[in-house]
Amino acid sequence: MGLFSRWASDLAIDLGTANTVVYVKGRGIVINEPSVIAINKKTGAVLAVGIEAKRMLGRNPVSLEIVRPLKDGKISNAKKTEEMLKHFIRLAHSKRMLIQPRIIISVPTGITDAERQIVESAGRTAGAREVYLVEEPLAAAVGAGLPINEAGGSMIVDIGGGTTEVGLISLSETVASYSGIVGGDKMNEAIMQYIKSNKNLQIGENRAEQIKIELGTAVKTEKIKEAQIKGYDTVTRLPTTITINSDEILDALKKTVNEIIESIIKVLDEAPPELAGDIAERGIVITGGGSLLHGLDKVIREKTGVPVSTADDPLLSVVRGAGIMLEDISKYKK
Ligand SMILES: Nc1ncnc2c1ncn2[C@@H]1O[C@H](COP(=O)(O)OP(=O)(O)OP(=O)(O)O)[C@@H](O)[C@H]1O
Ligand SMILES: [Mg+2]
Repeated sequence: MGLFSRWASDLAIDLGTANTVVYVKGRGIVINEPSVIAINKKTGAVLAVGIEAKRMLGRNPVSLEIVRPLKDGKISNAKKTEEMLKHFIRLAHSKRMLIQPRIIISVPTGITDAERQIVESAGRTAGAREVYLVEEPLAAAVGAGLPINEAGGSMIVDIGGGTTEVGLISLSETVASYSGIVGGDKMNEAIMQYIKSNKNLQIGENRAEQIKIELGTAVKTEKIKEAQIKGYDTVTRLPTTITINSDEILDALKKTVNEIIESIIKVLDEAPPELAGDIAERGIVITGGGSLLHGLDKVIREKTGVPVSTADDPLLSVVRGAGIMLEDISKYKK
């Protein structure tokens, strides 16, 4: 290993609503943690970040403030986003940071100039020499291996925690796009709401997410799965155990799934006829954690009439794409 490679500490970061993933040039992915931060309310000290902080979510100890600083694809808390980003950048480098790195950070397409500045300045205060921002769908398309440099159109749908981003890309540019605030979080909320209304049980965000991952489906399944949930009945206030099955979750998720499909149809409708023809032939690639919902590819295919495939490792497409750009920054600079 030459001296320079020891110093090469450039980073690509997928700053997601649900998860933050960090790639170090020449080393690969070194951090993949929930975007959650726990702060001591009195002193302002950062107590936990990532998985450790996520475990505390919903338990609300009085002395702690536990937050997801990004919500609905937006930065809802600038200061805490900065703290979290700084923490992850330092962690990625541990004591290796000998020179100031260059950092590529992916951001949602709908981000405002003010939010861009927050992300840039967070990167700088964390020690970056240069900060480049890349739109998530473009990074996702590169990471999923789509031929974005070609004239033929490619369509990528990134279903994350806070957002669904649809991008129609041709010749390395986004020709049409749509960014909506439906994704994994809205699915979790729908499950919480369903269980509250139909089973008189109030459950937390983390539990709802587990149920989605265990039982969630966008299509009717032959084999019905079940899970049991313990809690307190919202009416009687007594401890109770309820059973929920995958058919009920299908019902609970229907509206959110339809909204995701609507956003895809919107972009297909806007597409110039030539490119729409390319998509009809090549199909759509779905990615992001939400694309792992069972049967989602199938319903999208049914409702749009277009072939659909799921990217390999959907949770990592964006950071992989940003990593590829990092390895060849001059080519992707614009
Ligand atoms: N097997 C699964 N089935 C359904 N949903 C899943 C599964 N695995 C993960 N998810 C969901 O994927 C979401 C996280 O995806 P991802 O990490 O791509 O989001 P993000 O990039 O942080 O968010 P965004 O892109 O909106 O900022 C979470 O809502 C999580 O619950
Ligand atoms: Mg994402």
